[in-house]
Amino acid sequence: MEGPAETSAGRLCLVTGASGYIGGRLVPELLDAGFRVRCMVRSAQRVRDHPWAKRVEIVEADATDPEPTRRALDGVDVAYYLIHAIGGEGRFSDTDRRAARTFAEAAEDAGVARLVYLGGMAPEEELSPHLESRAEVGRIMLDSGVPAVWLRAAVIIGSGSASFEMLRYLTERLPVMVTPRWVHSRIQPIAIRDVLHYLVASADLPAEVSRGFDIGGPDVLTYRDMMLRYAAVAGLKKRLIVSVPVLSPWWSSLWVGALTPVPGRLARPLVESLRNEVVCREHDIARYITPLDDGLAGFEQAVALALRRVREADVATRWSSASVPGAPSDPLPTDPDWAGGSLYSDERVCDVHASPHRLWEVIEAIGGEHGWYSFPLAWSVRGVLDRLVGGVGLRRGRRDPRRLRIGETVDFWRVEEIEPDRLLRLRAEMRLPGLAWLELGVDDRDGRVRYTQRALYHPQGFPGHLYWRAFKPFHNRVFGQMCRGIARAAERPPPNNHPPTPAPTP
Ligand SMILES: NC(=O)c1ccc[n+]([C@@H]2O[C@H](COP(=O)([O-])OP(=O)(O)OC[C@H]3O[C@@H](n4cnc5c(N)ncnc54)[C@H](OP(=O)(O)O)[C@@H]3O)[C@@H](O)[C@H]2O)c1
Repeated sequence: MEGPAETSAGRLCLVTGASGYIGGRLVPELLDAGFRVRCMVRSAQRVRDHPWAKRVEIVEADATDPEPTRRALDGVDVAYYLIHAIGGEGRFSDTDRRAARTFAEAAEDAGVARLVYLGGMAPEEELSPHLESRAEVGRIMLDSGVPAVWLRAAVIIGSGSASFEMLRYLTERLPVMVTPRWVHSRIQPIAIRDVLHYLVASADLPAEVSRGFDIGGPDVLTYRDMMLRYAAVAGLKKRLIVSVPVLSPWWSSLWVGALTPVPGRLARPLVESLRNEVVCREHDIARYITPLDDGLAGFEQAVALALRRVREADVATRWSSASVPGAPSDPLPTDPDWAGGSLYSDERVCDVHASPHRLWEVIEAIGGEHGWYSFPLAWSVRGVLDRLVGGVGLRRGRRDPRRLRIGETVDFWRVEEIEPDRLLRLRAEMRLPGLAWLELGVDDRDGRVRYTQRALYHPQGFPGHLYWRAFKPFHNRVFGQMCRGIARAAERPPPNNHPPTPAPTP
């Protein structure tokens, strides 16, 4: 093992592509490692909501534009090149060549000490246009005159990664698949946390190291294996995959575009690349960079990490833009809309002519003897159906008619979160092909009191999607009436035998 060249303390890193999947996750890792970070983005707006935005310097520059790119590189020690144009307008290979040349020249001119580029694998065979273009960028970086590291990775596993999202949607949505031959190509996927570890450690490589490195996890799998193993980790029924020789990559990409929310312009080059075998041909990186303490994550571990947020029901964090996510495998609020798996929601708001605390009293007392404020017969039938399929049904009721604690049951829900006078989140424990939550809230900004209600459903597999669509007409009526019913109940005076509960002390 060769030692690091320098310590991170105080050195300035430039992260390009900071609005993208890898860049957005690399920034906090570099900050944690003690680097100063400058982000180069085409629009500062795109990174404004990132949890790290206030801890970095943000400069606007298009990598095809020499002057602003040169300014962005002023005083930079380590420059990360994490840009690609696939998914954009025009011929991506022309744009990527132009951007890479402009950036490499500007980096040399600015006296940058190290370039780090993450690209795709480059096996010695006829490459797809996407992989050929990624390899061309790698060669431009190595020829730049600046010591450069070109990390070559296959599919990166983590929520938000385009190639992982494609795998996720195809496997979740299709219990039976007729697939083209490329499902038999061998792939060596790698977990996002290990990619980020290599990227950060590359900043400390000795100056004489200027070369490409293949990076991959411990498993070599076919795309078919990945779909089957993904299904097992996600708790889906075993997928039936029948491959036929006739489907061309072009047809496959149309099919991927139709079945998944990953935009076709992005999906097409990725699918075309699946005909290439992308397996590490060398493991030289191990001579320079030690993996994380628990070693490189296997495929199953990487998928489990990517699905963790949904499994742990951290829905509010995932699907709102306010808070700080945890691990790099988790979704980020700034990921594109199509990333992060499917989530259906039914959201309602109702004005309430009562105090916020009175509204909260009604919310906290929901279920049990007070019922669900809409179609009691429909809720009873749902409870009976649940019991028929082995679920807990409605009969569990609740411990106390007015007060709730985290972890308690309320009919076929369990209390997951309580913020007194503000939010109650219930997690469904009824039998469902997916995970469901119900959030009931009090919003008293601008001198108005509003009741907010959000039903969230993360479907599991095809039956999960079918369930949501089949029940949508009922949900529309039930949730609509529930919203109005709770608002009206709050406007009525509390029953005489119910003295008001004290408002929480701040
Ligand atoms: N994700 C994977 O599974 C995977 C696998 C292997 C390798 N890689 C490599 O990792 C690198 C980053 O990929 P990613 O998944 O993070 O991509 P991404 O999410 O699509 O991000 C691409 C980034 O490039 C920026 N960009 C594009 N054209 C630009 C230009 N002319 N000037 C400045 N910025 C520009 C985009 O900024 P805007 O917001 O302005 O569009 C965006 O931030 C790529 O080299 C890719 O080949 C990724």
